[in-house]
Order: sequence, then structure tokens, then C-alpha cells
Amino acid sequence: MIYFDHNATTPLDPSVLEAMMPFLSGSYGNPSSQHAIGQEARRAVERSRRKIADLVGADPRSIIFTGSGTEANNLALRGSLTSGAFKGKHLIVGALEHPSVLAPAEALRREGYEVSIAPVTSDGEVRAEDIEPLLRPDTALISVMHAQNEVGTINQVHEICELIGYRRILVHCDAAQSVGKIPTSFPLMGTNLMTMVAHKFHGPKGIGAAPTGVSATRGSASPTGSLRLRPRERSR
Ligand SMILES: Cc1ncc(COP(=O)(O)O)c(C=O)c1O
Repeated sequence: MIYFDHNATTPLDPSVLEAMMPFLSGSYGNPSSQHAIGQEARRAVERSRRKIADLVGADPRSIIFTGSGTEANNLALRGSLTSGAFKGKHLIVGALEHPSVLAPAEALRREGYEVSIAPVTSDGEVRAEDIEPLLRPDTALISVMHAQNEVGTINQVHEICELIGYRRILVHCDAAQSVGKIPTSFPLMGTNLMTMVAHKFHGPKGIGAAPTGVSATRGSASPTGSLRLRPRERSR
């Protein structure tokens, strides 16, 4: 069989397996344990955290590890909106988002949130100009993916962030299909939250999906907490 579906998943790169092997066999400590073998695992986790953060221009402290992209998307939407930090009850999601964004959006709708679906062009692109008419004073979150998993469209996420500017709206980007493949980072895109998935770019399955948040242009955010806008905004 010749396998072409690297959008669904990718094989583990041998160098990744080599890097993981010590922790799958000899060095099996729990990183939360205080003893030496646990602390060795802790140091490895922290090294990985820094590498992942560097890859997307995030603060290592903002990385939250999840078990999958699906879990990361759920955390980004549900965690941020239900944290109590946002009063707004309106969210906007792109029409072609992955089911792991559309399903939590639908669940939030049933719980009293209002959800607008941003239309896409015939190429599957979500444009900033199509987001603009959907914005409301109570909009709390916009979720637009970077690279579409089925048709391959690359959304100009930075244009959407420019449109939002310093409004108190969280912007989440599901970058499951773009991290490790095309330039993808917080400074480039300006989002507050991002979803990353290791198995989409030759990493292991079940590890390493991480919604994170530090944006060079839009301040910092936590998927389980608040959006801290940069000082520039507060003085406006
Ligand atoms: C765009 C996108 N987001 C999220 C996911 C979900 O990732 P996972 O399979 O790790 O749950 C996928 C996987 O197909 C995807 O393509």
C-alpha cells in the first residue's frame, strides 16, 4: 500500500522514536514524583515544553499538554468560555472547521451560547471581511482553522486578528494541519490560542496536542482563563 493521507495522520519519524525510547523503557518515572527517576522525567517534559513553545513562538509556561487535537480544541473553546473570565455569550466558528470545533460549539449553543457560522468562499476560505458583519458587542471567541484538513485551504488568520485588533475577543486557531508543515506561530498569526497535534507531523499519537496562548499582537491568554490585553489597549 502507498499511503498518501498525511492529513489524517503520519508515521512516526525514526528520530522521534529514538528520542522517546529511553522514556518508554528505562526512564519510566512519573514527572510529578519527587524521587530521582521522576525528576529526570520532569526535566524531559520541560525540555519538550520549551521546544514546542519555540516552534510556535509561545511562552513555555502557556503550553498545556492534551491527549489529542480533539481535546485541545475542546479545551480551547469550552475552557476559555466557561472559565468565567468572559461575559460574552457569542462565538463565531468557520463553516469548515473540524468536527472537534463544531461539536463543542454546538454543545455550547445548547448551553445558552449563541453561535454564528462564518461562511467560506468557493475555495473554502474564511475571509476577514466575512467575519466582520458577524461581530457583536458580546462576541467572546472566534475559532478559525489555519489549514483545512480536507480541501487544503490556508486561511489568512492574521487578517482576521488584524480586524479584531485589541477588541476583547479571544481568537483560537486550530493549527493541527499546519504546525510543522508551513510557517505557523503566534507572532505570525496573532491569535491567542492554538491547537497543535504531534501525530500530524511525524510525532507520536496520543501526545502533544497543546492549545497555548501568547500573541505578539493581541496580548496573552489562557485556555482555561483570561485574556490579558497588552497595556496599549488598556490606555486607549
Ligand atoms: C484540522 C484538524 N483539527 C483537529 C483534528 C483532531 O486531531 P486528533 O485526531 O488528534 O484528535 C484533526 C484531525 O483529523 C484535524 O485535521
